[in-house]
Amino acid sequence: MDKVLVAYASKRGATAEIAEKIGQVLEQAGLAVDVQPADRVSDLTPYRTVVLGSAVYIGRWRKEAVKFLEANQEALAERAVWLFSSGPTGEGDLVELTQGWRFPKGQQPIADRIQPRDVVVFHGAIDKEDLNFIERFMIKNVKAPIGDFCDWDAITAWATSIADVLKAAG
Ligand SMILES: Cc1cc2nc3c(=O)[nH]c(=O)nc-3n(C[C@H](O)[C@H](O)[C@H](O)COP(=O)(O)O)c2cc1C
Repeated sequence: MDKVLVAYASKRGATAEIAEKIGQVLEQAGLAVDVQPADRVSDLTPYRTVVLGSAVYIGRWRKEAVKFLEANQEALAERAVWLFSSGPTGEGDLVELTQGWRFPKGQQPIADRIQPRDVVVFHGAIDKEDLNFIERFMIKNVKAPIGDFCDWDAITAWATSIADVLKAAG
């Protein structure tokens, strides 16, 4: 029961990379960690702590992350949980970039039940080569710049803060 699970939902890989980075930092702090796509996790029994992250598309989490939350809400309510979203592209303040978006509204009741230790948004990445016509139109519409805006210092600092809490708890 003392392992940490870092579960993620990623369409194009940026969120997977962020999850891997969080896993690395936790491991370097001496914790036992599994990093897994959310739809590949069926049993939370081995884990006392869960870090769950999703890419954000049109203000929503990926369905694998939503399903994970829904299916495991009771188990998550009994565990230490940290939640992150990978979304906004562009430089600068996340609250400005997201216009105050912090977490998908549809999943807020589950989050209220789970009482996560922290809920954060990280800058994300959009690769132009990957986009279809509709997606190009969408990101133009919301003026989301193309590029990799992942903030590895912020991600490392957040993961370090999780490791500190877990190590203090013993
Ligand atoms: C069509 C489209 C819609 C998006 N909508 C949002 C959004 O509503 N909010 C947000 O913060 N980021 C949005 N993004 C940015 C992605 O969430 C960001 O690129 C994320 O890091 C992608 O993660 P992934 O590579 O793991 O799929 C959108 C990107 C695309 C291509």
